[in-house]
Amino acid sequence: MRIDGKTISMQVKERVRMQVEALKEKGVHPALTVVLVGEEPASCVYVRNKVKACEVCGIISEEIRMSVDTTQEELLAVVNRLNADDSVHGILVQLPLPKQIDETAIIRAICPEKDVDAFHPVNVGRIMIGDYDFLPCTPAGCMELIHSTGIDVSGKHAVIVGRSNIVGKPMAMLLLHENATVTICHSKTVNLKEECRKADILVAAVGRENVITADMVKPGAVVIDVGMNRNAAGKLCGDVDYAGVSEIAGAITPVPGGVGPMTIAMLMQNTAKAAEKQNL
Ligand code: GUN
Repeated sequence: MRIDGKTISMQVKERVRMQVEALKEKGVHPALTVVLVGEEPASCVYVRNKVKACEVCGIISEEIRMSVDTTQEELLAVVNRLNADDSVHGILVQLPLPKQIDETAIIRAICPEKDVDAFHPVNVGRIMIGDYDFLPCTPAGCMELIHSTGIDVSGKHAVIVGRSNIVGKPMAMLLLHENATVTICHSKTVNLKEECRKADILVAAVGRENVITADMVKPGAVVIDVGMNRNAAGKLCGDVDYAGVSEIAGAITPVPGGVGPMTIAMLMQNTAKAAEKQNL
């Protein structure tokens, strides 16, 4: 079965739209500011899609574009201004940032209540202990897609390939909170194939095409592909060999149309929640 992230994301955004409408009736107008430094093509596409999703949900969006040679001090000044602005509920600084800027310092500067990416150490720590307001958008979207299959996560063996702070590590926590037995694989893992073959739920978040092939997948497994790569022909593809793996998996997300739209839908959900928390 193909997991339709596009359709599920539209359902999430419709839910958010209704929540935003209710907030507006109480005089709260949820607003997200996205900061883009430089003109990296992929980042520009992401930011455009985020702004479009805000329109669908009735969320006010502002896009701040800064030149590629912006200094850390200049970016910090913008973040501080947005922190102090009560009409801004969510702040998202698009990553990656140019090399002269320390990403960690910028993430730390964002007020945790407005950190709709959930990248701030306070929010990361709260996820670790299971007491959180925001979940990072991509892992949260993956969980929604896993739930959409009807699988009961409890007691299942979940394998995550990739250990990034943005996806792999928080994904492990979310699956653990739902009582999965979790394995995190990475570039130093010995015998990746055998580890993956144990997975009832397999999450690929590596950033390289064809990392997961059919021989690595247990029949019937739920396969979530977080990859967003360009192949030699310039076509968008994930980390999973979709053609081969879809023959074996019980459910699988396509790329595009799987995790990508969910990430943005979860950002909308976080922004509405931020506005609610800051006002009620
Ligand atoms: N760059 C790629 N994905 C993301 C994301 O989820 N948030 C931010 N801020 N930057 C990104």
